[in-house]
Amino acid sequence: MSETQFIDTYRDGFVAHLEAHTPMTEPQNLYAPIQYILGLGGKRLRPILTLMTTEIFGGKAEDAMDAALAVEMFHNFSLVHDDIMDDAPLRRGKVTVHEKWDLNTGILSGDAMLILSYQFFESYPAEMYKELTSLFSKTAIEVCEGQQYDVDFEMRDDVTIPEYLKMIEYKTSVLVAAAMKMGALVAKAPQKDADAIYEFGRNLGIAFQLQDDYLDAFGDPESFGKQAGGDIRENKKTFLYLKALEKANKQNKESLLHLYSIKPEDSTAKVEAVKSIFEESDAVGETKEAISAFTQKAFDELEKIDLPKESKALLKKFGESLMQRTV
Ligand code: IPE
Ligand code: IPE
Ligand code: MG
Ligand code: MG
Ligand code: MG
Repeated sequence: MSETQFIDTYRDGFVAHLEAHTPMTEPQNLYAPIQYILGLGGKRLRPILTLMTTEIFGGKAEDAMDAALAVEMFHNFSLVHDDIMDDAPLRRGKVTVHEKWDLNTGILSGDAMLILSYQFFESYPAEMYKELTSLFSKTAIEVCEGQQYDVDFEMRDDVTIPEYLKMIEYKTSVLVAAAMKMGALVAKAPQKDADAIYEFGRNLGIAFQLQDDYLDAFGDPESFGKQAGGDIRENKKTFLYLKALEKANKQNKESLLHLYSIKPEDSTAKVEAVKSIFEESDAVGETKEAISAFTQKAFDELEKIDLPKESKALLKKFGESLMQRTV
């Protein structure tokens, strides 16, 4: 099988498991939004990584299904609440939960998904249950910390690149890392390998969020499925923005600071002006370089693990496909 076929097989197996375990019961207004958001698809990146990692370390993908489901359920919970916090109208090309229903529905359905995600670990034996949930809880609280930094940064004009990197590590990359480490735990891989694969996922997750920031501004909203320039509208302190501030000429720097101090009702002109500054200052080039650098760092981590060449090739193929994504 080619690497792409492997990935499709993992996705298909996972989606079947997800569909069989998505609750469809009363009350409708709690469960319909859960069905809706999970049914909108998405890339299923994190559960695929869990299943793939399990098999790479000699375990059975089937045994990792519930852990993968927990991770994807948690991810979807975080998206529903994130869209409330970011005032986002679109997700995966469709109306967001809080706009299709209302704010309270988004909050409570999100809460229920968080709780469901923990329940999926109950199928594991006691010792493994403890390992998995302890990693999961550590990760979940870090995601909350990352999300709070992200929101706090909207109101600050002195955010540094190290602060930004810490913020995205927490809000995004620790979940990617944990998804992979859980695969290693299910396969009972040696501790040092479980830690190395966590580091692979952590670096890949940072590259992934940098790419998300890039696509938010420059991607095709049609394929990316989110409102064009949503981060710019919300004055998000992304890598693009921080690099532009660092590299732009005096006039552009002043315009950028001004544009990021306002929230106009119609933000079309603002988004266009900010994007021009991102391009002119070569913040775009810097962002692309950072994406490659963190992807490469992830690949370097693989060298610390004693794995067959084919397994490393599969992980690298996956990492490379993320760098090229438009979705
Ligand atoms: C979106 O994650 C949120 C981020 C952490 C950037 P994904 O890009 O994995 O979203 P889906 O699940 O594929 O829609
Ligand atoms: C989301 O970051 C991270 C989490 C959901 C925890 P973003 O706010 O950039 O994600 P998108 O772009 O809305 O998917
Ligand atoms: Mg968001
Ligand atoms: Mg956000
Ligand atoms: Mg984003």
